[in-house]
Amino acid sequence: SEFTTSRLLDFVRSVAMATTNMYNYSIEKLRTDEFPHLKNSVYVDHAGATLFSKSQIDAVHQDLISNLYGNPHSHNTSSKLATDTIDQIRYRLLKFFNTSHNEYSLIFTAGCTASLKIVADCFSFSSDKKHPEASGVFCFLDDNHTSVQGMREVFAERCSGIFCLDENELKTAIDSHLPVDTTESGSKHQLSNGEASSSVDLQSTPQSLLAYPAQSNFSGKKYPLEWIKQVQEAGLNLSGSRNKQTASERWFVLLDAAGFVSTSRLNLSEIKPDFVTISFYKIFGYPTGLGALLVHKRAWNTLSKQYFSGGTVAMSTAKERFHVFRDTLHEKFEDGTLPFLSIISLRHGLDVINKLAGGMDKISEHIFAVAQYFHHNLQQLHHGNGNPLAQIYGDIDFQSPVGQGGIVTFNLKRSDGKFIGFAEVDKFAQLHDIHLRTGCFCNIGACQRYLNLSSKLIKDNFAAGHVCGDNVDLINGLPTGAVRVSFAYMSTIADARVCLRFIADSFLEQPTAIPTFPDPVWYRSSGGDTVDVQVVAEKVAEKINGISEKNVSSKENGVVNGFHRAINKGEITAASVSKTCSETVRKVTDICLYPVKSCGAFRVSEWEMCSKGLLYDREWVLVSDTGVVIGQKREPRICLLSPCIDLSRRKLILSFPGASSFELPLDQEEEFDAMASLCTNKVCGDRVNTFDCGDAVSEWLSKNFETSGIRLLRQQSDDARTSKLKDKDNINTDDIDKPKLSMANESQLLLLSRSSVRGLQKKMVEIKDVDDADDTRLPTAPADITEDNLMLRFRG
Ligand SMILES: Cc1ncc(COP(=O)(O)O)c(C=O)c1O
Repeated sequence: SEFTTSRLLDFVRSVAMATTNMYNYSIEKLRTDEFPHLKNSVYVDHAGATLFSKSQIDAVHQDLISNLYGNPHSHNTSSKLATDTIDQIRYRLLKFFNTSHNEYSLIFTAGCTASLKIVADCFSFSSDKKHPEASGVFCFLDDNHTSVQGMREVFAERCSGIFCLDENELKTAIDSHLPVDTTESGSKHQLSNGEASSSVDLQSTPQSLLAYPAQSNFSGKKYPLEWIKQVQEAGLNLSGSRNKQTASERWFVLLDAAGFVSTSRLNLSEIKPDFVTISFYKIFGYPTGLGALLVHKRAWNTLSKQYFSGGTVAMSTAKERFHVFRDTLHEKFEDGTLPFLSIISLRHGLDVINKLAGGMDKISEHIFAVAQYFHHNLQQLHHGNGNPLAQIYGDIDFQSPVGQGGIVTFNLKRSDGKFIGFAEVDKFAQLHDIHLRTGCFCNIGACQRYLNLSSKLIKDNFAAGHVCGDNVDLINGLPTGAVRVSFAYMSTIADARVCLRFIADSFLEQPTAIPTFPDPVWYRSSGGDTVDVQVVAEKVAEKINGISEKNVSSKENGVVNGFHRAINKGEITAASVSKTCSETVRKVTDICLYPVKSCGAFRVSEWEMCSKGLLYDREWVLVSDTGVVIGQKREPRICLLSPCIDLSRRKLILSFPGASSFELPLDQEEEFDAMASLCTNKVCGDRVNTFDCGDAVSEWLSKNFETSGIRLLRQQSDDARTSKLKDKDNINTDDIDKPKLSMANESQLLLLSRSSVRGLQKKMVEIKDVDDADDTRLPTAPADITEDNLMLRFRG
C-alpha cells in the first residue's frame, strides 16, 4: 500500500510524461477568462454535457443581432441568408471531420439519439424492399448507450436476428475463424427473431448492421476504428462458420461518435463508417438539442423513409397519395423547419475549438493529461490498513490518448472492502460544489459488465422498486452503478486535484498519511517542454519517498511540508462519523426547526409534533422567478433569513439582518385563499403542491436578497408527499406505510450528534491552519465558530 520506489517511479514517470508533453498550461487562464459561469465550481460531468465559453456566446449574440436570418423555406433575402449560412456550416462541419459532400451527407437532427432513431426507423435489412424476407441481422456491442440499445426494439420486426456482443465476442466475430459460442449460456446473445429466413430471394441482398461506440460513455475506453473496414469488407462470423461477405450479403457499420468527438479528432478520410451519430453540445456546450447523422454514400440507399413533411418533398398532392421526396439525402430527412438559429450558432463553437483550445489534437492530449493525472492519483489512494480506496473500471492501462478518453469511472470502498454507495459520494461531492455523475450513465451494458450484474439481478432489483437514475446505490452491499468523473478542454489539473482532495478527505479511513497531490508545475519548472522525463521522475520520486518515509516513521501530527499531511485523530470523515454515533448514549439536547426550507434555524425547548414531523417545520420554501426552489448550495445568503413562529399571535415572523421584520399569518391558507395562486414545485425530486404567500412578502424578500422575483410558497395542507425511507436492503417500501413529509429532504427528523458537531467545529478551525490545502476554494473558518452556534447553521 505504501509508495515503493519502483511503483512510485512508474507513477511519477507516466504523470510527468503526460503533463509535460500534453497538458496545455494556457487553459488555466482560459478557464478563468472564458468560463465565468463556472465560478468556483468544479464541473467534471463533461461526458454528460460540456460547457460553452464566453467568447462563443458573445459571438453568437453579436451574430444574431447583426444579421437578419429568416425561415430557410421562404425565398426572401433574409431566408436566403439563413439558407446560405447553413450550407456553409454544413460544408465546414464536413471539413471538420475531414470529409466532403462527395462522400458523406450530413443530416441535422435534434441530437445523437434522434440520429440513431432515423437509422432505427429507416434502415433496410434487405436491398430490395419488396423482398424483406431476405433480411440481415443487427449486432451491437454491450458497451453502447441506451439510445443504441433501443434500436433493437424497432429492428425486431424487420431483421432476422439481433445479437448483443461483448468486446471479445465482437473481436472473435471479426477476425477469428474459431466458432463463436451461440448457445443460451454463451454470453453472445441472440435476442430475438430466431432463424434467418430459409427462402432467400437471390435477387435481393440481405443487409446487416453493426453498431458500436467510438468511445464508451461509461469508461472512456476508445474502441478500435479498424473494425469498421474489417466488418464492411468481411462481415461478422456469428454462426461458427466464416460468414464472408458475398454478393448475397452486405454489412454496414454505425459508429456512435457522441462521446468520441468531444475529446478526439474524427478523421473520416481514414475511416469510413456508414453512419456516424453525434450531438454538438457534447463538443462545445452550445447549442443544445442539435446533432447530426452523417451517412456515407455507400449507405445512402439503405435508408428508406415513409413519413414526409414540410421541407422534405419535391411535390405532393392532398387528395391523392402522391409525393416525391427531395433529391439530396439531407433534404429528404430534415423534417420541418430546421433549427436555423442553432445551426448558425455552430460556427462559433467550431471557432472556439480552434482559436481557444488549439484544435482537436491538442484538446485530446490535454484532456488525457488531466484524466490520467486523476486516474493515477486515485489509484494510489489506500486506507491505513493497506486496502485500496477506489475500484476503477476500465480494461486499459491509461497510457495514451489513443485508447482512452477523458473519463474515469469508479466506486469507492471502505477499509473493510465494503462498497460505499455512489449516492453517498454524490451528496458529499455536492457539498464541495463538485459536479460529477453517478449511476449507470444510460449504459446498462457496461454497467452489467463491470459491476457483474446479471439480467436476472437487474430484473429482481427493478421488481423491488429500483429504477434507472434513482438513489438506490447498493443492494445487498453491491453497487448498482458507479461514480463518473469526466473532463473537457477547459478542465485543469487543479480541477482534478480538488476532486482528489475531496475523495481523500471524505473517505480515506485512518491513513498513516494522506498524500497531497503534486502540482505538475514541478515538471515544467524542471525543464519545460524539453524536460528529460526520466530524470525528473527520479528526482520527484526521491523527494516523495524521502518525505513519505519520514512521516510514516515519526508518526507526526499536524501539517507537514511536502507531499503528506498527517491526520489529526478528531478529523471528520464519513466513516468516523458513523463509528462515533454508534457508541454514543443518546439524549436530546436541542430542537431546531426550519420553517422556511434551507433558511435559518428556529430553536425551541419543546414543540408539538404533527403528522409530518415537527409542526410548521419546512412548510415554506423560497423559489426563484423561474419557480425553482432556492437552496443554500445555490444561494448561501438564504441562511441569513431567520424565521420564527409566534404561536400565541399565530404569526410567522421573518427577519433579515439590517431590515425590519415581516409578519405573515400562520393561518394564511384561509385568509389568503382568494388571492393565493396554487403551484406545483419540485422539492428533492418530488412534486409538491404549494400556494403562493403573496406579493408583499415577495417584494420584501427580493429587496433584501437584491434579486428580483423571489416568491415564498407554502405546502398545501393536503399535499401527500411521503418519506423516502427504505428498508434494510435499500428498497423502497409501499407508500401507505411511509410517514408524511413536509418539504424536508428525506425524512421527518434529522438527528445530529453532538460529537459530529464537535468534530466539524474542530475541522473548521483546522482549515485555517492548513496552508497547503489543494482546494483554495475552502472558506476560512469564521472566528466565532462554536459548537453551539454551529448547530444553528445546519440547513433543514
Ligand atoms: C456514447 C453516447 N451515445 C449517445 C448518447 C446520446 O446522446 P444525446 O442524449 O445527446 O442524444 C450519449 C449521451 O451521453 C453518449 O454518451
